[in-house]
Amino acid sequence: MTQDELKALVGQAALDYVVPGSIVGVGTGSTVNCFIDALAGMKDRIAGAVSSSEKSSERLRAHGIRVLDSNTVERLPVYIDGADEIDHRGNMVKGGGAALTREKIVADLAERFICIADESKLVDTLGKFPLPVEVIPMAATQIARRFKKHGGDAVLRAGVVTDNGCHILDVRGLSITDPAGMEAEVSQWPGVVTVGIFARHKASVCLLGTAQGVKTLT
Ligand code: 5RP
Repeated sequence: MTQDELKALVGQAALDYVVPGSIVGVGTGSTVNCFIDALAGMKDRIAGAVSSSEKSSERLRAHGIRVLDSNTVERLPVYIDGADEIDHRGNMVKGGGAALTREKIVADLAERFICIADESKLVDTLGKFPLPVEVIPMAATQIARRFKKHGGDAVLRAGVVTDNGCHILDVRGLSITDPAGMEAEVSQWPGVVTVGIFARHKASVCLLGTAQGVKTLT
């Protein structure tokens, strides 16, 4: 199966986790696009969606799915999103699509994070995929210096301004052996809006698309 077919497979499988009548938390990316397209088939059985990006909101609306402001929602039963990397404990690196801040905000509203990914995303140790970090532009160089001390090489993602008007650093060369510790530390650096390590908001379930079908990791 191709990577796109695996993404379609897990996008479809994620429908099993949607609670009928509820508002669904919806992430961002090509795998989530497959989920949104599948969700359209049950749009009359959900109350709407809270989305983590303008792009996902547009796609949801194009299917006639109501998009709610996150401020109007207190709790979501599930948040369904992809990942750039996921380890065997559900820790993730996210932000390849530059939506990491809103992704963490919506994940924080949710009782369960359902990660949908093709098997290429499963790793033993996070860090091979360059770690995205959303930053306030005036702090970018200082934050890059701090990563240097941790053995990371941070490069500004050219031409990208996030939905929040900020910039993205992509940090190569890290081996993230303590995801929770690193997330907590980097989150405190002045000028960091969001670090793309999702350890505090790790996946409760991962639906992994493999050549043998969907594997459920819990
Ligand atoms: C966007 C993300 C995505 O979930 C991540 O980049 C995976 O995307 P894709 O499903 O296209 O591989 O974190 O900010």
